[in-house]
Amino acid sequence: MPLLETRGLCKSFGGLKAVNNVSIAVEEGEILGIIGPNGAGKTTLFNTICGVYRPDAGQVMFAGQPIHGLRPNRIARLGIGRTFQASRPFRGLSVEDNVRAAYGVRFHKSWRTLWGAHRADAARRRARELLEQVGLAHVAGMEAGQLSLGLQRRLEIARALALEPRLLMLDEPAAGISHEEGLQLMDLVRRLRQQGVTVVLIEHNMQMVMNLCDRLVVLSYGEVIAEGKPADIGRHPAVIEAYLGKEVAHA
Ligand SMILES: Nc1ncnc2c1ncn2[C@@H]1O[C@H](COP(=O)(O)OP(=O)(O)OP(=O)(O)O)[C@@H](O)[C@H]1O
Ligand SMILES: [Mg+2]
Repeated sequence: MPLLETRGLCKSFGGLKAVNNVSIAVEEGEILGIIGPNGAGKTTLFNTICGVYRPDAGQVMFAGQPIHGLRPNRIARLGIGRTFQASRPFRGLSVEDNVRAAYGVRFHKSWRTLWGAHRADAARRRARELLEQVGLAHVAGMEAGQLSLGLQRRLEIARALALEPRLLMLDEPAAGISHEEGLQLMDLVRRLRQQGVTVVLIEHNMQMVMNLCDRLVVLSYGEVIAEGKPADIGRHPAVIEAYLGKEVAHA
């Protein structure tokens, strides 16, 4: 049984079929890449899986259970963590408090009770562990808005890990970051997989996709046009056509 499966998933905006009859399966322990030209429907596919949008048709199965139609926070608690294409931390909060906020820790005065103090300690420990894991322990006290884009993306990943997801979905984690930060990000994703997290990532950075992913799914105009091993995908005529246009593909 795949960990995640979509069956005939559809989501339109007005007359535009942003996600059109998409069926994909993600095996436990795999790193699956989703690629495709701008506007292909990659982010919409993520949003439809994660409950931001309700699908017009089709199903989403997670660990054998249907999850389509559930609310995003319910889906997150079932074990799907995700990051967003545009990084959006609470800029005025510290890095550590951003992580604590991600698992629903409230900053409330009941924490002054003994039980509250105990929980606050546990929450702080857990946040520190997560920051350690993504390599942000050294900036735990910094305002999130002050981080470089590469570090903000790590913070997003820490936040996505807060609920201990089985599946982590990353929307263009390398967009706009430096080459060096990109390499560190690949290391992090590999380590997470070793720890048992399954990963689906949308990415335009082909070097990262080729090095990191076990398998790729290619979307174009909302539809899956190819899937397979990274080494084979680049030779696929439909993929060349989608990226470069018909003239080049048939030249
Ligand atoms: N909320 C929305 N309302 C209307 N149209 C939308 C909405 N979200 C996305 N679209 C449209 O749906 C199509 C797919 O968009 P989507 O953002 O999923 O593409 P993408 O593959 O993630 O692209 P990119 O690589 O640029 O991030 C595009 O034509 C886009 O303009
Ligand atoms: Mg997108």
